[in-house]
Amino acid sequence: MGHGYLAKGVLLLVLVLSCMLQIVHSTFGTTQSGQLVKSYYDASCPKAEQIVRTIVTKAVKKDPRAAASLVRLFFHDCFVSGCDGSVLLDNSTAMVSEKGARPNVNTLRGFGIIEDIKEALEKECCNTVSCADILAIAARDSVVQTGGPHYDVLLGRRDNTIANYSGANEVLPSPKFNVTTLTQKFIAVGLTKEDMVTLSGAHTIGKSHCTSVTTRLFNQSGTAKPDPAIPSRLLEKLQRKCPNDPTDLKTTLVLDDVTPETFDNQYYKNLLARQGILYSDQILADTDGSNLELVKLYAADQNMFFDAFVKSMTKMGNISPLTGSNGEIRKICHRVNGYRD
Ligand code: HEM
Ligand SMILES: *[C@@H]1O[C@H](CO)[C@@H](O)[C@H](O)[C@H]1NC(C)=O
Ligand SMILES: *[C@@H]1O[C@H](CO)[C@@H](O)[C@H](O)[C@H]1NC(C)=O
Ligand SMILES: *[C@@H]1O[C@H](CO)[C@@H](O)[C@H](O)[C@H]1NC(C)=O
Ligand SMILES: *[C@@H]1O[C@H](CO)[C@@H](O)[C@H](O)[C@H]1NC(C)=O
Repeated sequence: MGHGYLAKGVLLLVLVLSCMLQIVHSTFGTTQSGQLVKSYYDASCPKAEQIVRTIVTKAVKKDPRAAASLVRLFFHDCFVSGCDGSVLLDNSTAMVSEKGARPNVNTLRGFGIIEDIKEALEKECCNTVSCADILAIAARDSVVQTGGPHYDVLLGRRDNTIANYSGANEVLPSPKFNVTTLTQKFIAVGLTKEDMVTLSGAHTIGKSHCTSVTTRLFNQSGTAKPDPAIPSRLLEKLQRKCPNDPTDLKTTLVLDDVTPETFDNQYYKNLLARQGILYSDQILADTDGSNLELVKLYAADQNMFFDAFVKSMTKMGNISPLTGSNGEIRKICHRVNGYRD
């Protein structure tokens, strides 16, 4: 055996040992109560949040839409068997990835950014920061980066060792749903109708693929007609951008055409002007619906929206997290530890 191998062997041993020491360290940092806390990584990885912020900031500067994609990624993680990083797992012999589920396939983005963050965090403090917590911090930083409110993220989630493909198909709301079914999806994960209206305000940033709106533009509820709630000028514009082509997986529409890259209350103003893009957006402002009052409130008062958004995001971030000795801290976010093909 040459010196090169010996040196590499020693280096590996040092890395593994230092990592083991960090495991001991981070074990002391766990909350026994199973509650998420702001200070979770204060001792075990004090630079964790700073590292996430740096990478999110860079990603959003390069592609403003990355902010929206990261917020949506967190939402799609939390609704499916809790905020457990399950959305990040790839297909393997052991599981079917949530990435292929209807609400996610061809539309969910931002996975590469999460992996970049994970890699940086493994270098800084290995085996310590969960992918589920990275999603929560990255979502907050994305909101801040686009002009939204800053808030403390509660931490201490651990990563699931299994994905939930059928869960993803079942629990995530569809843009074709009516208010009743939309609300049911939020109630099912312990959120309220008000949380639904508030969190939908995230559609103040980001884009939708044409495929998520073509039903509304051409064949609402099987009527072979557009949704009558769309004003004719908006309809013409949307139909021009999105001809009825189910094979087009590329063309997109901004969800807030007035301030598409700014996290503000413009989404609600748009709904009052009947400029909502998704069917599930515009029905929140139905005159006969019970959500209109909240839409009006947020449209009139951005601070009110921001305060409520922070509360609802924190609630969503608390959907059945794995804590204590449940789950694991993944080393890479798209594979469980000990993965073998
Ligand atoms: C009320 C139920 C909801 C429905 C039916 C819904 C549906 C959708 C759909 C269909 C898209 C476009 C996907 C595409 O075609 O690319 C989208 C995008 C988005 N959603 Fe939602 N959503 C809902 C709630 C939420 C919540 C709770 C959040 C986060 C708090 C959120 C954040 C986003 C963001 C930021 C985007 C833009 C993503 C990007 O540009 O990559 N949505 N949503
Ligand atoms: C995962 O594998 C299933 C078949 O087992 C396939 O239908 C699906 O498209 C795959 N998902 C991804 C994201 O590649
Ligand atoms: C998958 O999600 C469904 C629907 O929420 C749930 O009933 C089921 O327990 C989940 N399965 C796993 C393995 O987490
Ligand atoms: C909402 O949609 C569900 C499922 O498609 C349907 O059963 C229900 O009648 C609809 N409710 C209203 C008020 O349209
Ligand atoms: C409209 O959608 C319904 C199903 O909801 C389908 O049966 C019908 O063929 C569609 N019509 C057109 C013109 O695409």
